[in-house]
Amino acid sequence: MLQTPDPKTLRDKLSPPKRLLMGPGPSEVDPVVLEALSLPPLGHLDPALLAIMGETQEMLRAVFQTSNPFTIALSGTGTSGMEASLLNTIEPGDRVVIGVMGYFGDRMCQIASRLGALVTRVDAPWGRPLDIEEMRDAISRTKPSVVCAVHAETSTGVCQDLPGIAEAAHEVGALFVVDAVTSLGGQPLLVDEWGIDVCYSGSQKCLGAPSGLAPLTMNEHALERTRERKTPVPGFYLDALLLSKYWDEKQYHHTISAPLLYGLHTALRLLHIEGLEARWERHRTNHQTFRGGIEAMGLDFLPDESYSLCPLNAVLLPPGVDEGAIRATLLTDYGIEVGGGLGPLKGKLLRVGLMGYGSRDEFVTRLLTGLKEVL
Ligand SMILES: Cc1ncc(COP(=O)(O)O)c(C=O)c1O
Repeated sequence: MLQTPDPKTLRDKLSPPKRLLMGPGPSEVDPVVLEALSLPPLGHLDPALLAIMGETQEMLRAVFQTSNPFTIALSGTGTSGMEASLLNTIEPGDRVVIGVMGYFGDRMCQIASRLGALVTRVDAPWGRPLDIEEMRDAISRTKPSVVCAVHAETSTGVCQDLPGIAEAAHEVGALFVVDAVTSLGGQPLLVDEWGIDVCYSGSQKCLGAPSGLAPLTMNEHALERTRERKTPVPGFYLDALLLSKYWDEKQYHHTISAPLLYGLHTALRLLHIEGLEARWERHRTNHQTFRGGIEAMGLDFLPDESYSLCPLNAVLLPPGVDEGAIRATLLTDYGIEVGGGLGPLKGKLLRVGLMGYGSRDEFVTRLLTGLKEVL
């Protein structure tokens, strides 16, 4: 028998410190959503839970701006959305074009390569969007079966324009897969109108729920591709056709977390009560206030305003300023979490999330006050 913990050391109730989450995600959660998370679980096939799942699908379609029947929430984080999107649509030896303008485009390349795809990368310098002509050239030259792009690159704060890439992909019969982890619910995203075939996100950013569920939508072309595969989807858990049997035909596939679903359902309900466009506008206003405050302090954003994201604000630090020390002081002395730079931007950037419930005027003021004192 291995040693077990001494009960005397286990008496204290869990008491995580109070933070203001203003990093690249997770974001602040509305107290109403927190309450929903503590409601008693239901069985994963209980008719009441199935009804909540159906309402969640309906509300997700509206946020994605799609009429795709296959619109669900995967049990997993944003990466499960990325993995599911690629796993279901790529077969070994397939040609895939991926636009990379930061950390998460690179992650798509890694997953596609693991699936045996022949990946053509189109890179943009970190801090700039993809060049649509370069994407177009790569697509018409390699005739891929799948084209991928990140809408909101969380590592750089850049927003990618998508319809031109969708058009080039469809000209060669490719599916267009889009990562909307940091944009869904916080930045205009029109899945059907822009020609996106597969789109995924995460619950913990602009939707304002905790992490653990990944919204995913696939249109009929994408599902047809999955049905016609020569090889089985390499994985049971994220197989779209099996998941569709659970979400649409109510057949057991896995035991979804009821509390996480309550949280997402409540977050979506609050989003729709506010109104999708009003929410985009709130994210834009708070981003502009924050950008104005940062520029008044003599600091710059990494991306130009014309392609800056509203939910994720990438602030360049002056040379010689210790990014780690700034973030540590904000966390310990002010209780505010912000993110640092990734990859080539490590040490050079603060990444500030103004997402979902966390996109609020008073939080912007609190952070700007803290930054003025710390810098
Ligand atoms: C653009 C983007 N894609 C994918 C992911 C991965 O999501 P997760 O960390 O929830 O697995 C993230 C996470 O920050 C992201 O910002």
